[in-house]
Order: sequence, then structure tokens, then C-alpha cells
Amino acid sequence: MKKRDILLILGGLLIIGVLWMAPEESTSRVPKDENHERFYTIVKAEGKKAAEKFCGECHYDDGGVPFPAEHPPKNRCLFCHKIIVN
Ligand code: HEC
Ligand code: HEC
Repeated sequence: MKKRDILLILGGLLIIGVLWMAPEESTSRVPKDENHERFYTIVKAEGKKAAEKFCGECHYDDGGVPFPAEHPPKNRCLFCHKIIVN
């Protein structure tokens, strides 16, 4: 095997590893309660993007359910907050 091939394989493994680890699994999941139950149905039927449009109805900083102060950019809620449908 050429040195270049080995580097390619290592590079590939690195990319897989990064994809595997991100986003962090420690981020809280979308709860399965009366507030969030309908999103399990929407995600199942229409996908994550369709469901995310409604998060802002309750989750906003001034008067809604506030975000933690150090919350990261939040345009794709379900990319980080897992919703487990099956
Ligand atoms: C009808 C209002 C409402 C909507 C819509 C809503 N939420 Fe919530 N959410 C709440 C409330 C109230 C809480 C805090 C109490 C709780 O845990 O249920 C909360 C808590 C959370 C939490 C924290 C759970 C924890 O472990 O503490 C996450 C994550 C979350 N919501 C994600 C989402 C996402 C993603 C969406 C959109 C798909 C969404 N929510 C839509 C009302 C809502
Ligand atoms: C880039 C990743 C990312 C995105 C996108 C994101 N969040 Fe978060 N969110 C986090 C992290 C990290 C925390 C802090 C750790 C935790 O409690 O989960 C957090 C915390 C929260 C909490 C408090 C959780 C708790 O346990 O008290 C709520 C509620 C929440 N996010 C809702 C949302 C909503 C709604 C959206 C979309 C508008 C969103 N987040 C988008 C990463 C993200």
C-alpha cells in the first residue's frame, strides 16, 4: 500500500469519527409530554424541519420558555435536541 492510501483511509476514519460524535449526545432530548407529543407525530409524518417551525411558539426568551444563557445558535432545534420516533 502506498503512503497516500494510508493517509486517505486515516482521513476517512477521522471524518466518520467526527460525524459519529457530533452533535453531543448529552444535549437534552425533546420530552414526550403534552407540550411536545404532537411533534413526535409531525417528525414521523413530515420530518424534522416541519416540526421545528413550531418550537418558537413557546421557546423564546422574553415571556416564553427561556433558553439557558449560554445556549448555542438555535435555528435547527432537532439537530441537537434528539426526538426519538419509531
Ligand atoms: C406548547 C408549548 C411548547 C412547544 C410548542 C415546544 N415546547 Fe419545548 N418545552 C415547553 C415547556 C413548557 C418546557 C419546560 C417544561 C418541560 O420540560 O416540559 C419545554 C422544555 C423543552 C426542552 C427541555 C427538556 C428538558 O429535559 O428539560 C427541550 C429540549 C424542548 N422543550 C425542545 C422543544 C423543541 C425542539 C420544540 C419544537 C419541536 C419544542 N420544545 C416545542 C413547551 C413547548
Ligand atoms: C447547536 C445545538 C443546539 C441547537 C440548534 C438548539 N439547542 Fe437547545 N440546547 C443545546 C445545548 C448544548 C443546551 C444545554 C445543555 C442541555 O441542557 O441540553 C441546550 C439547552 C436547551 C434547553 C434547556 C434544556 C434543559 O434541560 O433545561 C431548551 C429548552 C432548549 N435548549 C431548547 C431549544 C430549542 C427550542 C431550539 C430551537 C429553537 C434549540 N434548543 C436549538 C443545544 C442546541
